[in-house]
Amino acid sequence: MALVDSIRSAQVPASEVPAAVIRNLVNHKNTWLRDRAREGVGTFTDPNEDRLAVLDQKRAIVIAGQPNLENGRQLAESTCLICHKFNGKGQSVGPDLTGVGRSSLDALLANIIMPNQIVGNGYELVVVETKDFRTLSGRLIENSPNRITLIQAGGSTTSIERDEIQSMETTNQSVMPEGLESLPDQDLRDLIWYILSPPEEGPLTDEKKKNLIGLHIQSPPIDGESVALWDPAWQVIAPDFEGTPVKLPNHLGRQNVLSIHPWNLQKPRHFSA
Ligand code: HEC
Repeated sequence: MALVDSIRSAQVPASEVPAAVIRNLVNHKNTWLRDRAREGVGTFTDPNEDRLAVLDQKRAIVIAGQPNLENGRQLAESTCLICHKFNGKGQSVGPDLTGVGRSSLDALLANIIMPNQIVGNGYELVVVETKDFRTLSGRLIENSPNRITLIQAGGSTTSIERDEIQSMETTNQSVMPEGLESLPDQDLRDLIWYILSPPEEGPLTDEKKKNLIGLHIQSPPIDGESVALWDPAWQVIAPDFEGTPVKLPNHLGRQNVLSIHPWNLQKPRHFSA
């Protein structure tokens, strides 16, 4: 299929293709097409209403009251850094959080509450059954002719010889579990603010808080990192041009809209994921 091939070979940057089209391709009932599209772009799953309601509810909790960043650090170390690196600490099961996914409160909450909405290529949960009836899962970090290796939360790895494998499935789920937001209110507030603004990146001033919450700002924060997560090959070529590109949690009644700079005044460029 020409479009899929051009995306894979990067003749057409995937960011030029509406997310709705990509979603159709990666979920296509033609398995050949679907597999090639997934190889090229990763997977998309629509968030359901429940998750969106949870997002609103948790957002309100995080915004209310003062955070205790030291408690947030401890919680982050025990619940997130078992999979993520952050300012030099932690494991590499998921992407390094220092530079991605936390440019705003909404971006961070969406990533935590809906980890399966956009799963970057190579970050899917792979499930392997062995001939001696073991079931193993994790992120695939080695896929060679002789063996495969999975990495699991905590950073431990398991290698399996290819001739021991009964079946191997790449799911459309993230290695990152759902439900991490189910912490007591104060703990969630502490954790979120710590990740958004750890003390080593400077004090959490009221101004910084407002910016992260998205209050009183003309152009929302640049969110190039989420764009890259849609596909690692996607690049933000003009990272800071008139407030684009940006992932808007809501835009004109649609959710998760990727807004990029318009061609001209007549042609808007908003893509819905
Ligand atoms: C079991 C491993 C695991 C745990 C635990 C985990 N994550 Fe993740 N996380 C991942 C993986 C894998 C990805 C990449 C795929 C995806 O987006 O689902 C990811 C993606 C993310 C992203 C999106 C990054 C981007 O590129 O935009 C953010 C933000 C994030 N995680 C934050 C957190 C926070 C905060 C916690 C703790 C509350 C946490 N994660 C716990 C594995 C984990």
